[in-house]
Amino acid sequence: MPECTDQYIKPLTCKTNETGHLEVGGCDLVELAKEFGTPLYVIDEYTVRQICCDYKKAFSSYKNVNMMYASKALCTMATTALISSEGFGFDVVSGGEIYTVHKAGVDMSKVLFNGNNKSVDELILALDLGIGRFSVDNFFELSLLNELAKSKNKTADILLRITPGIECHTHEYIQTGHLDSKFGFDLTQTDEAVDLILSQYSNLKLHGIHAHIGSQIFETKVYHDEIDVLVKELARINSKFGLKLNQINIGGGLGVKYTEKDCPPSVYDIAGVITKSLDSAVKKYGVEPPEIFLEPGRSVISNAGVTLYTIGSSKQVPKGRLYFAVDGGMADNPRPSMYQAEYSALIANKPDNEALHNVTIAGRFCESGDILIQEIKLPEIEEGDILCVFNTGAYNFSMASNYNRVEKPAMVLVNNSQFDMIVKRESLNDLISHDVVPDRLKNNV
Ligand code: LLP
Repeated sequence: MPECTDQYIKPLTCKTNETGHLEVGGCDLVELAKEFGTPLYVIDEYTVRQICCDYKKAFSSYKNVNMMYASKALCTMATTALISSEGFGFDVVSGGEIYTVHKAGVDMSKVLFNGNNKSVDELILALDLGIGRFSVDNFFELSLLNELAKSKNKTADILLRITPGIECHTHEYIQTGHLDSKFGFDLTQTDEAVDLILSQYSNLKLHGIHAHIGSQIFETKVYHDEIDVLVKELARINSKFGLKLNQINIGGGLGVKYTEKDCPPSVYDIAGVITKSLDSAVKKYGVEPPEIFLEPGRSVISNAGVTLYTIGSSKQVPKGRLYFAVDGGMADNPRPSMYQAEYSALIANKPDNEALHNVTIAGRFCESGDILIQEIKLPEIEEGDILCVFNTGAYNFSMASNYNRVEKPAMVLVNNSQFDMIVKRESLNDLISHDVVPDRLKNNV
């Protein structure tokens, strides 16, 4: 395990203000909760910009780096515009993400399309908008993409997604690089794929290979191993087929610090391992230093985000737990129930009061498993208190649902005491706006 370095649980601008409330981006979180209601996602612009700068600085010693923020972590038009303004490109995985980044004004040549089952409509949208790279996942997609590109008289620029056979220690649902994964070509299949591209798929131009080993990764050695596999494979393909492929996509995966127990490497640690591993692999396999793509998602946006909830009911189980229920839960943050994810929190209206009581924070959804925080020490809690859960910028809004027919929360971007709503709260009418009742049922109600 690396030593704990510069990853923070809270947004960088988070502090207690003179009224004794928590503030982020110079904005009082209790006031934001009043203004916009709860649950409320709050994103700190400064933290996002700072982390983007850290990524750029950390990799500045390597000549040819493309930062592609993984949109799946959080994809809205405003956050896309923000991250794009830091010079990042985007990894997208659906028509919805493609459309969002396009509408946010992103130069589509800086967008890379991933996914193990891209649809015809999504591939057509990507081709029409001039997406920079397709990471092709399987034989079916090779043939389909070639066909579609041909019908449009275009050439699709591609990488081949491979399965590097590397297991990382993270939750099994978010491991992707092991041999049994649903993603990518097995290393025994890459020759056949390259052969097909060269001999039959004249509307595909191959530039290199791609792998992604998993998410919420704390080890650095797995990146060393991954790079060794990628560079070795690139060198092998080049020499076997007489090619000069020079691009590798290393994927994302850097973990973040959700609780004090977590000890992820910093962006600088990971950059050091990646660049050193590239140097040694390049020497070992006798190739030119390749152009690299990185796809960080969580580590760019997670600790910039907090979620505010209002505390409602409580229940003391005789001789057991003390539950406090909030007005959100598994629909706005499914991570605790899906991955047993743990979170840290403070009471935004009294963050510095002594944390004396062990409590459980329950969600409001109709499932026993809807527990946001199993056990946390907090001060005396009263109904109406505002709970601030940290590190919710990634994979919260993006995985939110309307379970129990509950409206999705609003999102606010804060910076320098300024706040802007960037996603509106859904209304009851939004919830029924896509419902259609057949005529024959209308008179029976
Ligand atoms: N590139 C590819 C090809 C990916 O599949 C992913 C994440 C990323 C990049 C970004 O990984 P990151 O830097 O964010 O770890 N819903 C789960 C995480 C699923 C990640 C899926 N792929 C969670 O909430 O933990």
